[in-house]
Amino acid sequence: MRVIIADNYKEMSKKAAVMVSSQVILKHDSVLGLATGDTPLGMYKELIKLYEDKEVDFSGVTTFNLDEYYKIQRENPESYYYYMNNNFFKYVNVKKEKIYIPNGTAKDIDEECRNYEDEIKNKGGIDIQILGIGANGHIGFNEPDVNFEAETHLVKLDKMTIEANSRFFNSKDEVPTTAISMGIKTIMQSKRVVLLANGEVKADAIYKTVKGKICPEVPASILQLHSDATIIVDKGAAKLL
Ligand code: GLP
Repeated sequence: MRVIIADNYKEMSKKAAVMVSSQVILKHDSVLGLATGDTPLGMYKELIKLYEDKEVDFSGVTTFNLDEYYKIQRENPESYYYYMNNNFFKYVNVKKEKIYIPNGTAKDIDEECRNYEDEIKNKGGIDIQILGIGANGHIGFNEPDVNFEAETHLVKLDKMTIEANSRFFNSKDEVPTTAISMGIKTIMQSKRVVLLANGEVKADAIYKTVKGKICPEVPASILQLHSDATIIVDKGAAKLL
C-alpha cells in the first residue's frame, strides 16, 4: 500500500486526476471505477480541465460507479446518477452507453446486482477504482462488520453513514436506509485502487486503514492486501500516520 501525503485538497485532487488521466492515455478503452461524495469533486474538476485542454479523451472508456441509494429515482438530485452527470459526465465525452451506475429503482435487486457484476467482468474488469472513505472506514457502502467476500449487493446503511449523508438531504428521515454497492470482493478485483481522503474527520479511519489490523470492523483495511493500492491524503487526513 502506497501512501501519498499531499499538501492540501487541491494537490490531492490533482494527483488523483493525473493517475486517472494517465491510465486513460495509456489505455484508451480503460474501465474506470468511480466514486461519489464530497471527496472526489476536486478530482472531477481537474479531469474536466485536462479534457478541455485536450490532454485526455474519454471517448473509449467505460465507467462503473461504486454504489447508488436504493429506492431513489435517477432524477432525484441526491441520487448518485444525478451527481455523476452534474459533476462530471455532462462536461466530458464519456459515451452514454458506456456509463454504468447501479439502478436504485430496480424491481429485482438480486438480478440487478448479478447483472452489474457480470457487466464488470464482461468489460474485462476495472483498471482503476477511485474510492473515498467514510469516517467509520466504509468504502463504497460497505459498512463495518463487512463480509469481505461479497460482490455487488444490497446493503443496510450504518447509523453513522445516514447521519453523515443527511447533510445532502432536507432531513435525516429522507436519507435512504439501504443502497446497492459493489462488494469488497468486487473492489479487490480491480487492477488498481486509489483511495482519497481529506480533512481531520477522516484521520482515524485512515490510520486504521493504513496501520491497523485487517478486520471487518474497518472495511478499508482490506486494501492492505491489494497488490496496487494507493492512498492519497491531505495533511488533515494524514494527521495520525
Ligand atoms: C458515501 C459514499 C462513499 C464515500 C463516503 C465519503 O456514503 N457511499 O462512496 O466515499 O460516503 O463521503 P465524503 O467524500 O462526502 O466524505
